[in-house]
Amino acid sequence: MKKDTCTFINNRNNKSYEFKILDANRGPSVIDISSFYKKTGMFTFDVGYTSTASCKSAITFIDGEKGELRYRGIAIEELAENHSYLETCFLLLYGLLPTEKQLLSFDLELRHRSFIDENLKTLIGAFPDTAHPMSILSSSVTALASFYYEHLDIKNDEECFEMATRIIAKIPTLAAFAYRKSLGVPFIYPDIDKSFTENFLYMLRAYPGGKMKRTVDGNDEIRAIEIKALDTIFTLHADHEQNASTTTVRTVASTGAHPYVAISAGISALWGRAHGGANESVIAQLEMIGDVSNVDAFIERAKDPHDDFRLMGFGHRVYKNFDPRAKALKKLQDELKDELKLDSKLMQIAERIEEIALKDDYFVSRNLYPNIDFYSGVILTALRIERPMFTAIFVIGRTVGWITQLMEFRADPASKITRPRQLYVGK
Ligand code: CMC
Repeated sequence: MKKDTCTFINNRNNKSYEFKILDANRGPSVIDISSFYKKTGMFTFDVGYTSTASCKSAITFIDGEKGELRYRGIAIEELAENHSYLETCFLLLYGLLPTEKQLLSFDLELRHRSFIDENLKTLIGAFPDTAHPMSILSSSVTALASFYYEHLDIKNDEECFEMATRIIAKIPTLAAFAYRKSLGVPFIYPDIDKSFTENFLYMLRAYPGGKMKRTVDGNDEIRAIEIKALDTIFTLHADHEQNASTTTVRTVASTGAHPYVAISAGISALWGRAHGGANESVIAQLEMIGDVSNVDAFIERAKDPHDDFRLMGFGHRVYKNFDPRAKALKKLQDELKDELKLDSKLMQIAERIEEIALKDDYFVSRNLYPNIDFYSGVILTALRIERPMFTAIFVIGRTVGWITQLMEFRADPASKITRPRQLYVGK
C-alpha cells in the first residue's frame, strides 16, 4: 500500500477509495478530500471546522499542544520581546524582518498614509455618540472601499502592497476617531512626527489643536512604557492563522469582493464575545464579580451545565495547554504592575479566578486555560482606554494578519470561492 495515501472504506457498499495525504512542513498532515464527493457521492461533516484545513498557508504556525505560535517561522516570544510591531508587520507582509533602511521607509510610508478623507470624517461624525466603536470601525472600513475603489482590481504586487499599507496605516486613525466620537469630543488628526503606536495614543488623548494634558509630576503625557505595552499588545494580536475572522476575510475575498470590504467583514466577525469581543467581556465580568469573595460562586456558575455563564478569557479551540500570547501578556502585566499602577482590585479577582481554574477538574479536564483576552483588558484599563475600545485595539493589531492572509489567498492559483455543503434535515 502506498504510504502517501489513505483509504476510505464505505461499509455500506464495500467500496474503497484512495485519498492523498499531504504533509505539512510542521504540524499535522492533511488528507486531501477535495475529490471526496466526486468519488463517493457523499460530503464530509465537520461543524465548526474542528478537523478541517481550509487552505495552504506559509504565514503563521500554531502548535496548540505545545503552546507554540510563530509568524513566518519566528517565535512570538522573540517578536514580543525584541521587535517592534512595525517590524512584525513587515515580517508578516514580506516574509522577512526588515533591514534598518527598509523599516525606516515602511514607517514613513505608514505615517504619510495615516490620514483619512475629510468626507470619511464627516461619515464618522454622523454616528450617534452612543455608537459602539466596533460598529463605526466596521462601517468606516466598508466606506473606505468607496474611497479606494481602484483596489478592487489589483494588477500587480506594487498595487497590492499599496492597498495593504494604506489600510494598516488608516485603521488606527479610524479607530481613534470612532473612540472620540463615542466620547463626544473633537477628532484629532494624526501627527506624522510620531511613531505608529505613539500616534495612536496621541489621537486618543490629545486636546483640540493637538495639545497634551500637562501633568504636575512632569511626566510626559504619553510615557515610553505605555507605548511599549501597547506596541507589544499589537504584536501579540498580529495574526493567528485560520481563526473565525481570518476565515471570514478569506471567504469574502473568495467572492472577488473589494479587499477592504473583506477586512470589514473580519472586523464584524471579531466583534463577537467568543472571539475578539472577549477582551471587553473579561473586564465587564471582573467588574461584575466585584470582589475576590464572590469568585467561588461565579466559578460554580461557569461549571453548571444548566447555566450559560462562561468564564470570559478562558478556553481556546486550538491551545490545549496554554496560550503563548497569554503567557507573554501575563509577563508584561507583572512587569507593568507598579509602573502603570494596574487596577489592583481587578488583578486580585483575575488572579483568584486563575488560581482556582488552573486546579479545578472541570477546567483542567476540558483544557480550559486563560487566553490572550484574559490579560489584555487589565493593561488596556491602565492605559486609560475605555472598555468599548478593547476589541478595536485587537482590530488594529490584527489588520496586518488579515491583509496578509488575503494577499496569500489571492496569490494562490488553487484558491476557490468558499462554498461548503450541508447535511439536509428539513422537509
Ligand atoms: N467557561 C466555562 N466553560 C467553558 C468555557 C468557558 N470559558 N469554554 C469552554 N467551556 C466548556 C464548554 O461548556 C464545553 O463543556 P462540555 O464539554 O461539558 O459541554 C467544553 O468546555 C468545550 O467547549 P466548546 O465551546 O465546545 O469549545 P470551543 O473550542 O468550541 O470554544 C471558545 C472555544 C474560545 C469559543 C470557548 O472556550 C469560549 O467561549 N471561551 C470564552 C470566550 C473567550 O474567552 N474567547 C476568546 C478566545 S481567544 C481570542 C481569540 O483568538 O479570539
